[in-house]
Amino acid sequence: MNKGVSSAPTQALLSQKNASPAELVKLEKYPLEVSVPNSNNEVDQATAAHITVLLDEAVEALAIKPDGIYVDGTFGRGGHSKKILEQLGCEGRLIAFDRDLAAIAVGEAIADKRFSLIHSHFAAMQAKLAELDVQKVDGILLDLGISSPQIDEASRGFSFRYDAPLDMRMDQSGGQTAADFLGSTTEQQLAEVIKNYGEERFAKQIARAIIAERNDGRAITTTGHLAQIVAGAVTRFEPGQNPATRTFQALRIFINQELEELSLTLPQCLALLKPQGRMAVISFHSLEDRLVKQFIRGQENRDDLPANFPVRAADLPQPRLVSVGKAIKPSQKEVKLNPRSRSAVLRVAERTVTL
Ligand SMILES: C[S@@+](CC[C@H](N)C(=O)[O-])C[C@H]1O[C@@H](n2cnc3c(N)ncnc32)[C@H](O)[C@@H]1O
Repeated sequence: MNKGVSSAPTQALLSQKNASPAELVKLEKYPLEVSVPNSNNEVDQATAAHITVLLDEAVEALAIKPDGIYVDGTFGRGGHSKKILEQLGCEGRLIAFDRDLAAIAVGEAIADKRFSLIHSHFAAMQAKLAELDVQKVDGILLDLGISSPQIDEASRGFSFRYDAPLDMRMDQSGGQTAADFLGSTTEQQLAEVIKNYGEERFAKQIARAIIAERNDGRAITTTGHLAQIVAGAVTRFEPGQNPATRTFQALRIFINQELEELSLTLPQCLALLKPQGRMAVISFHSLEDRLVKQFIRGQENRDDLPANFPVRAADLPQPRLVSVGKAIKPSQKEVKLNPRSRSAVLRVAERTVTL
């Protein structure tokens, strides 16, 4: 289990009654690994390093005040952070988080007294900021998912393109690896994870094959071994896609508790933002985006009283957040330059004065 996050929300999210399996995860295309020939320059460029997605749009959405306090919850390789720093004056402040030690090592090279970097999952945001005596901020950015270096570094175990230990933890300093999970899960739980987070129609067959392999005394501890078992259990898959694509995605989301992290963090963003403070969230698959959209809508439209309830409009609960513009997607030009950006959706909301 990752730091301080209970497993309860996983089950809650897995069994969301109002979400059809098809809605649960419309497969994210960005961290998904599609088999693409190496000769494709666009993909080579995108995988060699992390290309920041919606860089200008996300930073512009924060409407940076030069002396404001900003949070980048997902430092990665610092693309957004550096742009925020460029727009801050000497009194401004940026506090960045990442749970990946490789990202932290990159951020530590930024020598700027306005910048602080915290090795933590972002669901601990409010507590970590309180340790720095920061109770309110002017803007928060979350650029969800994993970075290209995480996918492309074989030893991280996120990719079926390389045979490597089956790790998949963004934070390698603790928590269970994907191999640990496969070594202890039940067939039913595994099938649910693969189905709900990977939208994999062969989830049951894959789970059965994995558990049978384990029961035969062959522990699944490498990406290659897992990919091979999945390939044997999946009889149909999208052209150009590795049969293990959906299973790898599902395990990654589960191991890193990506949806729970987001659910726990959105209310903290609300509590942290000053009036007119902005939150900007970039999602890469439909369930993440749904959480963000529903959270913003819930705070925007707090009138959940029955129709005809005798109350004056002025007495209705007032919005705590208002959406800023419509959801923003990468331009065709950006997608061409960085195919991994193609499923990104940016949502922006502004805090009102309502408590
Ligand atoms: C898409 S990348 C961010 C890229 C970054 N915006 C840039 O321009 O370089 C996502 C990063 O967020 C980190 N991350 C994902 N979920 C996290 C969480 N719950 N808490 C902290 N960091 C997280 C990952 O480790 C990864 O480095």
